[in-house]
Amino acid sequence: MLKGKSLIDPMDFSIDELEEIFKLADDIIENPEQYSKIAFGKILATLFYEPSTRTRFSFETAMLRLGGQIVGFSEPNSTSVSKGETVADTIRVVGCYADIIAMRHPKEGAPKIAAMYSEVPIINAGDGGHQHPTQTLTDLLTIRKIKGNLNNSTIGICGDLKFGRTVHSLIKALSRYKNNKFILISPNELKIPNYIKKEILEKNNIDFVEAKKLEDVIENLDILYMTRVQKERFFNEEDYIRLKDSYILDKEKLELAKKDMIILHPLPRVNEIDYEVDEDERACYFKQAKFGMYVRMALMAKLLGVV
Ligand code: NCD
Repeated sequence: MLKGKSLIDPMDFSIDELEEIFKLADDIIENPEQYSKIAFGKILATLFYEPSTRTRFSFETAMLRLGGQIVGFSEPNSTSVSKGETVADTIRVVGCYADIIAMRHPKEGAPKIAAMYSEVPIINAGDGGHQHPTQTLTDLLTIRKIKGNLNNSTIGICGDLKFGRTVHSLIKALSRYKNNKFILISPNELKIPNYIKKEILEKNNIDFVEAKKLEDVIENLDILYMTRVQKERFFNEEDYIRLKDSYILDKEKLELAKKDMIILHPLPRVNEIDYEVDEDERACYFKQAKFGMYVRMALMAKLLGVV
């Protein structure tokens, strides 16, 4: 039963519960009109303390496409937050008005605190450099749709593995499926955090290697997950400038890859995928963005208990 639950960490739901969400998303994709009124009378509040375009829009359009309504902010300075209100108080108040809340916050753990105080389901829409579970639902639905299942893949994750919250959540989630291997491609300074390495990969005996050059490993990959260097999490600009173009996927590198490899990216892209790659059949990142809306429709319908 997902009704009334919050989603803070990708491990909050069991594999069966995830499958329930994916099956519903499949059905919504096939028969969107059947679901266009199921959340009538329900209100989603989007509390975005950090910039976002696609995540906020995909939550909002998802709710509108379920027949519900939306309120929210994307600029906390225009709210009581600027008067010093705590997350706990904001949540208790917003929970009086809305039926479900999606929250993005620069502080790691803020959505977890919110869930402790909330009477209504909280969805973590990204907390600092920590986790981003709905991007992971998006990524998993995309892989499942294109590859047919979530097992038996060699997944290359490339770019900012240190600050990239989508990376942390994706590794956590995929480590629960069978026979997946990871190739973690990053510069030294942006390696995967130790807690993911020790507590997720090593603890569960998951096969993984770390690499520095994309072209050395690309031929082995079934899935290539590109990420942007997370400028906003750097302490100094010089480091960012030095590292920002560490990886650029272009046609030449793609020549080395399998014909059925899929390329994913949570977006926004900065420089890490050349525009010429967009025409390649293997480029799935815009499809992925669309799946993100459908999976959020399914998630909210389940948490609200309207299906
Ligand atoms: C990601 C995020 O916010 O972490 N974007 C998104 O939600 N689609 C990735 C990023 O910003 O690089």
